[in-house]
Amino acid sequence: MKRVLLILGIYLMAFGCGEVQEKPQPATTGLIADKAMVVSAHPLASEVGKQILAKGGNAIDAAIATQFALAVVFPYAGNIGGGGFMVIRMADGATATLDFREMAPLAAHRDMYLDEDGEVIENKSTLGHLAAGVPGSVDGMVKAHEKYGSLPWAELVEPAIQLAARGFPLTNREVAGLNNRRETFRQVNTVDPAQYTREWQEGDSIRHPELAATLTRIRDQGRDGFYQGKTAALLLAEMARGGGIITQEDLDGYEAKWRPAITGTYRGHKIITMPPPSSGGIALIQLLESVEPYALHEIGHNTADYVHLLVEAERRAYADRAEYLGDMDFYNVPIQQLIDRSYILQRMQSFDPEHATPSDSISHGDILVESDQTTHFSIIDTKGNAVAVTTTLNGAFGSKVVVGNAGFFLNNEMDDFSIKPGYPNMFGLIGGEANAIAPKKRMLSSMTPTIVEKDGEVFFVTGSPGGATIITAVFQSILNVIDFGMGAQEAVAAKRFHSQWKPDVIMTETGALDEATVEALKKRGHKFFDRGKIARVDAIKKLADGRLEGGADPRGDDMAAGF
Ligand code: DON
Repeated sequence: MKRVLLILGIYLMAFGCGEVQEKPQPATTGLIADKAMVVSAHPLASEVGKQILAKGGNAIDAAIATQFALAVVFPYAGNIGGGGFMVIRMADGATATLDFREMAPLAAHRDMYLDEDGEVIENKSTLGHLAAGVPGSVDGMVKAHEKYGSLPWAELVEPAIQLAARGFPLTNREVAGLNNRRETFRQVNTVDPAQYTREWQEGDSIRHPELAATLTRIRDQGRDGFYQGKTAALLLAEMARGGGIITQEDLDGYEAKWRPAITGTYRGHKIITMPPPSSGGIALIQLLESVEPYALHEIGHNTADYVHLLVEAERRAYADRAEYLGDMDFYNVPIQQLIDRSYILQRMQSFDPEHATPSDSISHGDILVESDQTTHFSIIDTKGNAVAVTTTLNGAFGSKVVVGNAGFFLNNEMDDFSIKPGYPNMFGLIGGEANAIAPKKRMLSSMTPTIVEKDGEVFFVTGSPGGATIITAVFQSILNVIDFGMGAQEAVAAKRFHSQWKPDVIMTETGALDEATVEALKKRGHKFFDRGKIARVDAIKKLADGRLEGGADPRGDDMAAGF
């Protein structure tokens, strides 16, 4: 428990999804637009997406351009050296999800982060070259464009090239984030990444000429501009200098995959979300089904009864996550059983409104198994197509390795595998066989890009970074709009809480619950841990009159842009 809290404390400082710097109080209503909108973690990336929409591009075009722009202006999590998930709902109701999650290199093996005694070697799965999975973002964007793109590929990559080549002003939050990590960047890298080891001042502009050159190759050669030729050669040279294991065969073998969406219903709304290797979609449907029988609006937002109910549902969902969820290309995930309503009702039968259930007394449910720091953006275009993308390097700036002379960060996603059964990852999440390391396998994720539909139309697009807290943040954002009638901005700004089965504790944002509520919950057996801030949700809500409201999380520099 102590170690897990320590991990969570470090996580809070290092990946807190928003270095703590207060902004003025958020407006209760977000940007309202008539036709189309992008909400992302960075104003410049939102603007890039908006320009693509204004040119007549569709939501997928805008998502591709926003993804590349974030790789430049928000290297904290935006990336070409990482991976992510895209959930799509076209205006005609068709849905799709794209899995561009990183894959384990061919030379990866189950015990690669353990010493001879079977103990975990500190930092090996989180820092430096061995922490990186084979990146998926560029192949993902290429596949998204092939299937749904309407504007030429080059036009979607170009804005990111311009930002990297011309430079852009750093926000105060970014100056702090970069300066705080200078020493780590210096230690981990084999070629000094000058932009990341020098000291920045407020108001400075930053340029990324090497990244501009890499993006130019991607613009001109598509997939081959990253997985072949000069970029691949630079990545392999980086691996050789730093003792990494990614090979040309790994790059050739990387493949983003289309997967059918996970769907469910909640109070007459259709929920469209991400299947494995995300655990988020399944857990989200489980959570919504667990609380649907209760009149949340009457119970009241963030009251003791409300927190107690949600936490008890979360305890059960995260216990299932640890047992059953992993890459379904490798492990038979019993999706339908896990989201079956009668199974969820049976899981909630042990719910006691007066007492917390100790996590040690909760295990995963019995299912017949036949065999064995991230960023989110939401987009709706002029035609009503919607896209939710969550993308990540895992920790802040991933493995902290910048590919020498190529200007981009590599992820540290390998830590999302269960590196030893029962050993917590950097988000305190545990797992076992389902999420053990194997070559070409994708590590389990919590990323939960989600689209909510009402009366046959898009109603809410949501998602978040935040490791383990992503699922519960997305869950609360949906309850906020459906059960409490909040607007998008109010829903993302509302204070959050989180629990994940183990550690057996309720994590709260500072000020989320008043003292009397905390005392009432302690009497029922709950323990508390103040996390400062939790997650960073960026969402769009369709209003009754058809206009769009952006919810840009005030915990970061997030911004809505629309017209
Ligand atoms: O895929 C996952 O669940 C994690 N790699 C997400 C990491 C994350 O959200 C970090 N952000 N604060």
